[in-house]
Amino acid sequence: MKTVYKGRLITFEGSEGSGKSTQIEKLAHYLRQRKKPSLCLREPGGVVISEKIRELLLDVQNTAMSDRCETLLYMAARAQLVDEIIVPALKKGTIVLCDRFLDSTLVYQGYGNGVDLAFIKKIGDFVTRGIKPDLTFFFDIDAREGLARINRAKDRIERRSLHYHNKVREGYRQLARRSRGRIKTIVVNQNPEEIHRVVCRYVDRLLGL
Ligand code: TMP
Repeated sequence: MKTVYKGRLITFEGSEGSGKSTQIEKLAHYLRQRKKPSLCLREPGGVVISEKIRELLLDVQNTAMSDRCETLLYMAARAQLVDEIIVPALKKGTIVLCDRFLDSTLVYQGYGNGVDLAFIKKIGDFVTRGIKPDLTFFFDIDAREGLARINRAKDRIERRSLHYHNKVREGYRQLARRSRGRIKTIVVNQNPEEIHRVVCRYVDRLLGL
């Protein structure tokens, strides 16, 4: 189901170090130049309550956090962001650019931690109010290479094993194969400018620019 609102939801997905945040900034700049109202958000986070949940989720001290608690906290952060910002923005006709969305929970908690995918989809439907991204970019990078690009202290999720991060990548690849219409895979072997041009082509098509 596509969103029924005037606005559009574009999400950016990928493993650690895939460069998606850079691409969001570039796309936001591109849309500003074209006088298209847009908004950049990140998950988990984007609003005060969800940023507080983000701290809990990424804090390396929280080694005891269970897989189920982790799944529900990501969902709780998303529910708040959807209700407080995403739905009102889409109603106004804004183009919402979101750094991660429900696909992240499917791959990190589902494929990565083994949480039941059907359960994630069911709760996901509840927290997103059935909103699906109109377009999703999956920036695909080798897990080891992506992790090596992180040049700050690693958070609780980034610290996980290479085996875990490989499962995350494989999860993304499976999702992308199943949703070719929505999810566009971009292999991160080109420079950021070339990738930006590819992103813009898809966005132009979506927005009829
Ligand atoms: P970020 O580093 O892209 O800001 O994302 C924060 C971390 O949270 C990243 O390691 C991916 C992870 N994550 C999940 O495990 N599940 C989710 O649902 C989301 C949104 C992020």
